[in-house]
Amino acid sequence: MANQQTKRWSQTTIKMTDFNNNPGSETTPTGVLLNKKVEKAAPFYHEIEHETEVFEHAYKNKLPVLIKGPTGTGKSRFIEFMAHNMGKRLITVSCHEETSSTDLIGRYIIKGAETVWIDGPLTTAMKNGDILYMDEIAEARPDVIVAIHPLTDHRRELFIDKLGETIKAHPDFMLVASFNPGYQKGFKELKPSTRQRFVALTFDYPLPKIEVEILINESNVDKDTAKKLVAIGQKVRNLTELGLAETVSTRLLVDAAKLIHSGLPKRLSVHVAVAEPLSDEPQTLQAIKDVCDLMI
Ligand SMILES: Nc1ncnc2c1ncn2[C@@H]1O[C@H](COP(=O)(O)OP(=O)(O)OP(=O)(O)O)[C@@H](O)[C@H]1O
Ligand SMILES: [Mg+2]
Repeated sequence: MANQQTKRWSQTTIKMTDFNNNPGSETTPTGVLLNKKVEKAAPFYHEIEHETEVFEHAYKNKLPVLIKGPTGTGKSRFIEFMAHNMGKRLITVSCHEETSSTDLIGRYIIKGAETVWIDGPLTTAMKNGDILYMDEIAEARPDVIVAIHPLTDHRRELFIDKLGETIKAHPDFMLVASFNPGYQKGFKELKPSTRQRFVALTFDYPLPKIEVEILINESNVDKDTAKKLVAIGQKVRNLTELGLAETVSTRLLVDAAKLIHSGLPKRLSVHVAVAEPLSDEPQTLQAIKDVCDLMI
């Protein structure tokens, strides 16, 4: 595992992953301690199309990247993989309706008799040249979006109103954001003026052949079982009449494969890892379980 630190910054969860094992960087300006010893295990990621190439070119051209797609389709895994390959530190901010620009930029805190300024994850990443990954960006409060606009165009700068300062991004800094258009349907849309500041990639459920390989790699399950699980995924994804908000993701299939590989009976594994997370409605749930039982 790479060196990971999770820190609560106000209500917002921030995760720092240092794949680079930079022996010089022990503490970040936010006070997060980075261990010196890091095992450099690459996160497993199976490329789907041209996403690694697009990402590298976006980075080279200092363009921010927006990753769109349903839950469990490898968005976060992809960013971890790219950060690792590029030898960059990744700072992940999980955005939610309370995430404010202060959470990202920084704030004054009282330390003993003094008031000291603490950089937030965005300011830290901008100064150090890290990748900042804003997960579920559409969930964040509007002031967050306003704050990042000058950062996402040619200016690459951030105005810190509490300090009355404008800072320029380090040349290696990269901003990446994700959002789930289906899930946000109707209400939390991103405005065109925000969307059009990003190079965008759409993630979706992979082709069966690739999904089988992902399952085998992630769980060590046998190929025959992996194929059956992927077939279940395909079948349930096509049952649009079930009216599910989100259908079977690769994540759910990986979970089922892990349970099976650890010795839980196959049908039970599929019921608890695939069917149950999808619906609470008894009839829908039974319909999904029936389909699964026929296929494994
Ligand atoms: N292309 C892929 N290569 C390797 N693993 C994958 C891939 N796609 C999905 N996975 C598997 O699916 C799991 C979920 O992926 P991930 O957490 O990246 O989803 P996500 O798109 O970020 O979902 P969310 O929107 O809920 O955050 C991963 O832990 C991994 O096991
Ligand atoms: Mg994610």
